[in-house]
Amino acid sequence: MSSNTSDARLWGARFASGPSDAMANLSASVHFDWVLAPYDIAQSKAHARVLHGADLLTKDELKTMLTGLDTLLENAVSGKFIPTPADEDVHSALERGLIETIGPEVGGKLRAGRSRNDQVSTDLRMYLRNNARLLAVAVCDLQSALLAQAQAHVDHPAPGFTHLQHAQPVSFGHELAKHIHAFARDLDRFADWDKRTAKSPMGSGALAGTSLDLDPVALAKDLGFEGVVENSIDGVSDRDYVAEFLFVTSLIGVHLSRLGEEICLWTSREFAWATLDDAWSTGSSIMPQKKNPDVAELARGKSGRLIGHVTAILTVLKGLPFAYNRDLQEDKESVIDAIETLHLLLPAMTGCVATLKFDTEKMLASAPDGFALATDIAEWVVRQGVPFREAHEIAGACVREAEKQGTDLDGLSDAQFAAIHPSLTPAVREVLTVQGSLESRSTINGTAPTSVRKQLATAEKNIADLKKWSAKLPHSV
Ligand code: ARG
Repeated sequence: MSSNTSDARLWGARFASGPSDAMANLSASVHFDWVLAPYDIAQSKAHARVLHGADLLTKDELKTMLTGLDTLLENAVSGKFIPTPADEDVHSALERGLIETIGPEVGGKLRAGRSRNDQVSTDLRMYLRNNARLLAVAVCDLQSALLAQAQAHVDHPAPGFTHLQHAQPVSFGHELAKHIHAFARDLDRFADWDKRTAKSPMGSGALAGTSLDLDPVALAKDLGFEGVVENSIDGVSDRDYVAEFLFVTSLIGVHLSRLGEEICLWTSREFAWATLDDAWSTGSSIMPQKKNPDVAELARGKSGRLIGHVTAILTVLKGLPFAYNRDLQEDKESVIDAIETLHLLLPAMTGCVATLKFDTEKMLASAPDGFALATDIAEWVVRQGVPFREAHEIAGACVREAEKQGTDLDGLSDAQFAAIHPSLTPAVREVLTVQGSLESRSTINGTAPTSVRKQLATAEKNIADLKKWSAKLPHSV
């Protein structure tokens, strides 16, 4: 039964035998939690310093410990030190590595006053806080690509949709820029999440704190946290920050999927508004003519797994007794996967968006289709003093008449307009052009090119601020 008798385990003493292979295989997390190794080592160095501060390590022992941990980091990065399946997790592996490097006399002192329970949550917070910034950099790159395309198309009208039916003409720059704002909110969410996650659980120990005279506040500051979690039981049990992180990554996924869906539509033969660059599309193994929007489709598809991760962590947490339970080990693979998925997806979407070529003539030609200027007639009539209720009827009558005549709204004659309602003088034609329609919607958030240009200037500044936020990693490893 019991073939795993490795002494890497941190808890062997009370057991007559080691775990069975099946138990060890189930228990092991080192094959995925190894990404935490640099954070665990940084944390160990900070912990060694507070042990020294509490007179639990001499000056020389501290020096030996810090040098040993630096060597261990080097060896872990270079691959000279490799965790083995018998190590169970990153914390056990690194303790084994430290003892192999500096011996058990000093190496065996590091574990005092901490538990893997507070250690793992501290490492994970550090890993996620740094990675939120690294993801934000990739999101900002996509925003910049969207911004460049939006700036190039401010003056190009296109049909705007509701219910996937032509609704009103819009500036295509306005259409593209809406995605920039969605991603900006996602990065705001990361920045807000970060405030709650910037607290170190160290000092919580297994759950109740420690009787050793350690200084969790100094340790937190040393590690790049803003403070310490207030309650040690909460400190080792809380994974809200994982759930929130996964919500933000799933929402980024949803926003990517909506952008992806638009790219699929725009590049379809039916729309034919945009062409994909060869570098960002694929062909078909059987149909030589095909050029497929695979990046956009994968964005749509991968949002599914990102959403699944939120459901998974919430289900793990629901009804979980306090304090630490091994269920919590299930918190890591989902965040690692979410981060890796977005690092694959975001640069590809950026490349795909940056190289899209738009057929602005085609968009312009179809902008007024489907009587998309009917609202312009209604609002023009309102400006002549007619109540909107009536104006809506009048514009509807214009659509009915145009349909009957087989023409567009501007194809109605002056006499036909006048017969519908006396307020419809020939001056109504000023809003019956796509350009006039766009220019009339000049509210601060509207589609008039003058408004859109101001919106894009604000968005550009916002992207610069977000880039600044993401440039500085709180935890140096
Ligand atoms: N590998 C564990 C995790 O990720 C570390 C904490 C283990 N603690 C324990 N008491 N078994 O959650």
